[in-house]
Amino acid sequence: MRYRCVRCGRTADAMDGFICSCGGIVEVEQIFPEVSLELFDHRLSSVEAPYSSGVWRYKELIHPEINPTHIVTRPEGNTNLYRRRKVSEYTRIKNVLMKHEGENPTGSFKDRGMTVAISEAVRSGAVIVACASTGNTSASVAAYAAQAGLKAVVFVPEGEISIGKLSQALAYGAKVIQVKGLFDDAMRIIKESSRQLGLYVLNSLNPWRIEGQKSIVFEALQQMRWRPPDWIVVPAGNLGNTSAFGKALKELKQLGFLEKVPRIASVQAEGANPFYRLWRGKHNRLEPVEAHTVASAIQIGNPVSWMKALESIRFTDGEVEQVSDAEILDAKAVVDATGVGCEPASAASVAGARKLAEQGVIDRDEEVLCVLTGNLLKDPDTTVRYHMGELPMAATRANKLVAVEPDIGSIEEALHTQAL
Ligand code: F0G
Repeated sequence: MRYRCVRCGRTADAMDGFICSCGGIVEVEQIFPEVSLELFDHRLSSVEAPYSSGVWRYKELIHPEINPTHIVTRPEGNTNLYRRRKVSEYTRIKNVLMKHEGENPTGSFKDRGMTVAISEAVRSGAVIVACASTGNTSASVAAYAAQAGLKAVVFVPEGEISIGKLSQALAYGAKVIQVKGLFDDAMRIIKESSRQLGLYVLNSLNPWRIEGQKSIVFEALQQMRWRPPDWIVVPAGNLGNTSAFGKALKELKQLGFLEKVPRIASVQAEGANPFYRLWRGKHNRLEPVEAHTVASAIQIGNPVSWMKALESIRFTDGEVEQVSDAEILDAKAVVDATGVGCEPASAASVAGARKLAEQGVIDRDEEVLCVLTGNLLKDPDTTVRYHMGELPMAATRANKLVAVEPDIGSIEEALHTQAL
């Protein structure tokens, strides 16, 4: 394999800090060994690491060269696909599937990229690993560093990450540094200081994260018996997933494993929409914005992977959409009430699918795979505040808490007056 800068095209066997001398970010160019889909199907029965992992099952397409003794795996992946009538009714798309990445070990898709990037960190002799994060990356970095016996430092925007995610990073033993500012400030600090401070960066500018996250697509397709859906809809913040999905599809196509290429729809929050503006606007470079959204995981105004993500949307003839905070939380309430549940940012995929179907971009008869990126319990605060009507937007699907005196009469009265 070798690294290739997505900006200037320079290739090299190693790129310090994964940033090219031109300032561009790099991707991994792989030379795949002979491989067949039957091998991946055969590994489904594997009960031992690493092949029991829903990432390392596809080792030949992710990191063919790594020695299995360097692999740090929980294992991760093996997340379920769900079909729920209420979500179909809500999106008015007949055939909607949800792939629940909140079922990963630390509750988000980040673990898929992390197992690969941390294994590569171990292989390359890293001592301190680091990331900037809106919360999920920091939880995953902290957990995998603990397992690998590495020191971890995570930079999080003060007051802008959910308590569930902050508690994970602290509990798993990372050094947590609160930066006064937003995620983009924390990300800038990491980019500027990692070499000087000797930090091995585990953000998605680390191309091994992208390699690991390709497995979301591999696993979803395998679960669908390698028959691709028409669309894959994904929430978009720093644009790692959008980049990874496009790369995965491109590689599967090159290997002759894909009969048709699903279209990727990347969905941003209206208050954090630089990629949407780039796609729909007239510029050919990303203009950063100051990001504000209730979906704190995707509150990102200057996404590092925009060039790779743009290539994904172009390659798959995809779309970029934006949804309001109210649309995100209503879609979340629908997903939650089916018993599946997800964190706010995750519901951007379902809200986006609904909007694209309304506009006729997605045909109601097409098959649509929505990725749910994080677990419901990641941000209980926002969920409770939505249902209590404490957020600025109208909570059209609020399930109000009922308070009663502790006697049967009050309870009976409450049951009569409040619809169940
Ligand atoms: N959904 C969730 C739950 C996330 O945590 C993130 C990103 C995204 C979607 C966006 O994914 O960056 O690949 O476009 N969270 C990062 C973090 C930035 O620090 O945890 P993306």
